[in-house]
Amino acid sequence: MIAIGCDHAAVDFKKSIIEHLQARGWKVQDFGTHTSEAVDYPQYARKVAEAVARGECEKGILICGTGIGMSIAANKVRGIRCALCGDTFSARATREHNDANVLALGERVLGKGLALDIVDVFLTTAFSGEERHVRRIEGISAIEREEK
Ligand code: RB5
Repeated sequence: MIAIGCDHAAVDFKKSIIEHLQARGWKVQDFGTHTSEAVDYPQYARKVAEAVARGECEKGILICGTGIGMSIAANKVRGIRCALCGDTFSARATREHNDANVLALGERVLGKGLALDIVDVFLTTAFSGEERHVRRIEGISAIEREEK
């Protein structure tokens, strides 16, 4: 199950991504928003990030105008490694190296074709599992545990 959410700036991308994923057999849980009425992105980032952190959804996708606000907010949830990607190289690398579990995209930044390619790469690339990457991710978790 893939969790997805957006703000008012990215309803169109969210709809296209959901259709794209469902056509490829993914199950998708849509956390909104559903209209162009202005909303605050942190509440959608939180819903998606918490669904992933609780293990209810295996990955999350968050879209706003730039992807920046969504990524900042999602990364406040313990256990979330949200990567803002504007290219497929980064999408592949963040799965292989960072084991990112949430992808952030910017509708005002990307073309739809590129965004769908980034989604495909993100969801089909496995974490490398290499010791140095495991160690570095553990370093991220240590910050979560130790920061007050
Ligand atoms: C909304 O205007 C915009 O600020 C939001 O979609 C996002 O880009 C924030 O980071």
